[in-house]
Amino acid sequence: TTYRIGYIVGSLSANSINRKLALALKALAPANLEFVEVEIKDLPLYNHDLDGAYPAEAVALKDAINASDALLYVTPEYNRSIPGALKNAIDWASRPWGQNSLGKPSAVVGASIGAVGTAVAQQHLKGILNFSDAALFNQPEVYLQFTEGLITETGEVTNEGTAAFLKAWLEGYAAFVAAHVAK
Ligand code: FNR
Repeated sequence: TTYRIGYIVGSLSANSINRKLALALKALAPANLEFVEVEIKDLPLYNHDLDGAYPAEAVALKDAINASDALLYVTPEYNRSIPGALKNAIDWASRPWGQNSLGKPSAVVGASIGAVGTAVAQQHLKGILNFSDAALFNQPEVYLQFTEGLITETGEVTNEGTAAFLKAWLEGYAAFVAAHVAK
């Protein structure tokens, strides 16, 4: 069985190291995982007043998530939490009330230039996803400290040990997804 993985990059930066990490995971993934990006960059700010009339960008976000078997969050840490852009996307996806789209098998990974490797942001995000009724893949954890050139623009991992680690993580994630997706 092939599973569609909707991945969300928490950074809007054109040079995002987390986008590079997402591309690396896509390239290293087992053949039964199809990676499709769920875009968040064009979303307006969430406003509860719009729950009865979602803007097109937010409808597209929910459609993309609903079409995914599982979700993967690849996010930087901003000020010891997740970027506002990612929280905004989560708020849209969680509503309108009673139509939460986030209750899917999910995983969280991230890259940082600091040694903490997004651990604090991931902890916050997992709390949010618990509330959002997502089933979380928790082990192993990916706290990637990004050093210059570790992953190329096209998602090639230049360090053998890191590539092997990410590959093993993907195999665990694929097994978790297979076990959690009701088909
Ligand atoms: C950061 N950065 C950062 N790093 C970290 O390890 N912990 C943190 O709390 C923060 N806080 C933070 C806030 C803001 C507003 C910015 C712009 C950056 C540094 C961060 O790891 C670095 O900029 C990464 O390159 C961000 O990931 P992307 O955007 O390249 O994917």
